[in-house]
Amino acid sequence: MKLMMVNASPRNEGNTSRILEEMKKIFEEEGVEVVSFDIGKDGIRSCIACNSCHKSGKCVFDDAVNKAAPVFEEADGILVGTPVYYAGANPTLMAFLTRLFYSTRFPKRFKVGAAVAVARRSGVMTTLDEIYKFFTIAEMPVVSSRYWNGMHGSRPGEVLEDLEGMQVARTLARNMVFLMKSIRLGKETYGLPEKEESVGTNFIR
Ligand SMILES: Cc1cc2nc3c(=O)[nH]c(=O)nc-3n(C[C@H](O)[C@H](O)[C@H](O)COP(=O)(O)O)c2cc1C
Repeated sequence: MKLMMVNASPRNEGNTSRILEEMKKIFEEEGVEVVSFDIGKDGIRSCIACNSCHKSGKCVFDDAVNKAAPVFEEADGILVGTPVYYAGANPTLMAFLTRLFYSTRFPKRFKVGAAVAVARRSGVMTTLDEIYKFFTIAEMPVVSSRYWNGMHGSRPGEVLEDLEGMQVARTLARNMVFLMKSIRLGKETYGLPEKEESVGTNFIR
């Protein structure tokens, strides 16, 4: 069982890191291999719509996105953590996910997707929605917890005082493990659902 973890905070000792560390303990207890990408300080470019990935299967910019792609291909799930910036995800994360999902051709269906967002005060819901869009266009089940996956804190480490938020994070980690195991068992037992040839309807006449 393998999980790709993406930390979009530029603060090494920040709140996102603390949440992901807490979740990582559970993954390790459960025997899940975690491969982490700390992208918060990387100057990750956005997609330039050159579409060269359509031929090569990888992004024209050879950075963390191309390093993460083979890990994502092998992974049973992806966990994304981000600080909330202007009621949305860190733009570095949006650039990373846009290029990762757009440039890679391997099937992502039934890899599980989960996200945590940390804010001083507001914007976690819109942030989570932004991230979930990548999962739900790729037939990836989104993992839920006992509350929406928003945590609160401002100065580095303050999120540890959000006891409910940290419990939500731990629950999310356990639910991810359960779903990854269940999907693997389900694939072996029933196989994946039938996949139709894709129909592209662009509303162009
Ligand atoms: C550029 C920027 C924008 C921010 N926008 C918001 C916001 O919209 N809502 C909010 O509650 N906090 C906002 N914050 C505060 C951070 O989300 C908060 O400090 C969070 O704990 C940072 O996480 P980190 O320690 O993992 O980096 C913003 C911080 C920065 C640097």
